[in-house]
Amino acid sequence: MDEDAPLPAEDGTTETTPGASRAASVARGPDVSGRVVVVTGASKGIGRRTAAHFLERGDLVHGCARSPSPIEHPAYVHHRLDVADEAAVKAMMSAIRRAHGRIDVLINAAGEASMNHALLTPAETLEALLRTNVIGSFVCAREAARLMRPEAHRRDRDAPADTPPAGGRIVNLTSVAVPLKLAGAAAYAAAKAAVESLTQTLARELAPMGIAVNAVGPGPVRTRMTRTVPPETIDRLLSAQTVSRLATTDEVVRVIDFLADPAAAMVTGQIIYLGGVSR
Ligand SMILES: NC(=O)c1ccc[n+]([C@@H]2O[C@H](COP(=O)([O-])OP(=O)(O)OC[C@H]3O[C@@H](n4cnc5c(N)ncnc54)[C@H](OP(=O)(O)O)[C@@H]3O)[C@@H](O)[C@H]2O)c1
Repeated sequence: MDEDAPLPAEDGTTETTPGASRAASVARGPDVSGRVVVVTGASKGIGRRTAAHFLERGDLVHGCARSPSPIEHPAYVHHRLDVADEAAVKAMMSAIRRAHGRIDVLINAAGEASMNHALLTPAETLEALLRTNVIGSFVCAREAARLMRPEAHRRDRDAPADTPPAGGRIVNLTSVAVPLKLAGAAAYAAAKAAVESLTQTLARELAPMGIAVNAVGPGPVRTRMTRTVPPETIDRLLSAQTVSRLATTDEVVRVIDFLADPAAAMVTGQIIYLGGVSR
């Protein structure tokens, strides 16, 4: 199945037209009972499936990407922006603060890849990958964490003293290209290695606020990103995995969902690779 196939709309029909934002219908004010989830890269692939998953769970989702999203749902708001554009990300987070007063979960799924031999990779390619994968994840995490902080102080007065603060969850996306040191992916793996470093340092810095920061590293998943990757590169990657097959977006989302769970407070600073890959 093509993971970017049109999603079913609420009424069971299939939505094919890129949807406009539904800001008006989700402007519920600051007392939102469901979780407020932000998903970057929500127009396609893993991000789009992740946004749909949290909507199915009854959460309120703000998604972003440079292009429109095909998601049409009363609890979904789409922001068109470049995640590396600091001012645009700040403006999106301000809009979320005004609408809901907080963020509970951030999934940094926006990403770009480039598969080429290092000798054929211009510096601009590396720069572009660093901008989207690293600067984008960093700026979104920083701004979202500022809106997660109030949660850390919302302790139940009657709760035992050792009850952890109800903080937020940040999940970044990395790749098995890092631990497998995938030849032909030097620029991409360097950018994702930076995302992993960011994940582990942010986990330490944000732990006192009750915010857990983790990363999921899938092997190849059939999305727009892998459409142009030569089959022999995919085969090489798969043969290096313990589970030598493509992952589905749903399998990636299951791990994201676990890391986003309020009960997963003790899991932080972890990089979870799929397909049985480890460092
Ligand atoms: N697919 C795989 O095999 C695989 C494996 C391991 C890790 N990953 C990682 O998983 C994440 C999602 O990948 P995917 O396969 O779902 O890729 P995808 O199908 O290409 O989707 C990428 C998403 O990110 C958005 N995006 C890209 N650059 C952006 C920017 N500068 N600002 C805002 N949004 C941006 C895209 O939307 P617009 O183009 O509209 O902006 C799109 O919604 C990425 O971080 C990727 O590195 C993927």
